[in-house]
Amino acid sequence: MSDMIEFDDRAAKAVEAMYLTPDVVMQRSHVMAAMGLRPGMHALDIGVGPGLLAYDMGKAVTKTGKVTGIDMSRPMVEMSAGRCADMPWCTFEHGEAEQIPLANDSVDVAVSTQVYEYVSDMGAALHEAKRVLKPGGRLVVLDTDWDSIVWHSSNRERMERVLKAWDAHLADPHLPRKLPHMLDTAGFTVTRRELIPMFNPDWNPHSYSAGIMKGIQGFVSGRDGISEDEARAWADDLRQLGEDGRYFFSLNRYLFVAVAG
Ligand SMILES: C[S@@+](CC[C@H](N)C(=O)[O-])C[C@H]1O[C@@H](n2cnc3c(N)ncnc32)[C@H](O)[C@@H]1O
Repeated sequence: MSDMIEFDDRAAKAVEAMYLTPDVVMQRSHVMAAMGLRPGMHALDIGVGPGLLAYDMGKAVTKTGKVTGIDMSRPMVEMSAGRCADMPWCTFEHGEAEQIPLANDSVDVAVSTQVYEYVSDMGAALHEAKRVLKPGGRLVVLDTDWDSIVWHSSNRERMERVLKAWDAHLADPHLPRKLPHMLDTAGFTVTRRELIPMFNPDWNPHSYSAGIMKGIQGFVSGRDGISEDEARAWADDLRQLGEDGRYFFSLNRYLFVAVAG
């Protein structure tokens, strides 16, 4: 856990900026469609982050429904509460995926996007999601497999070392391939699987890959023999490739819909 990113004020703002890019806006529309929210439902966002998805959820369930957002980061909880302040039926609190502060059988739809990959005890997290969902309730999960990355670099060996060091920012950088079996073991039935690519074939400073590049540079500096200068050179190279019209980035995210038995 100590190796993983801490979502303090600065990290919360960086995630918010990255999740406002068109790449992640498109991802959210897929997630919203998979959730199938209707007015009056109680929806739970596990690891609510900056609250961008929770905002859309609040609009979908309307004031006749309820949205609960939990996050282990207090800056994220505050940011979500601020974003949804005009929807009093949306509430946010500090909480962990492994110990959700809600009663049994109280939620119609739960969602967790880009969160379970940070969780070391996935058995406990899925047990909790199932506990709070009503029978027949739906869990929507989205995570990244970092083996799926294709990122053009002038120095492939350095790119590989940087990405290897970056893997340590997660409890499991390859979670999606294991999720269907984990969900099955936890008593869910997987009803939908979807691939959502992040694809940036051109350089754009307002893109997912430009945002994550800054996060990676900061995280790997001083790790696994990568100096600050080398991390900077890695990022400068990507920007230069962009200016030369030779930029290329793609990464896969995987979405699962699972029904609680
Ligand atoms: C990359 S952000 C994703 C935020 C949000 N789900 C989204 O997609 O916009 C990851 C979030 O998960 C939260 N998180 C990580 N591990 C958690 C855990 N065990 N319980 C609750 N929240 C957790 C972090 O604090 C952070 O806000």
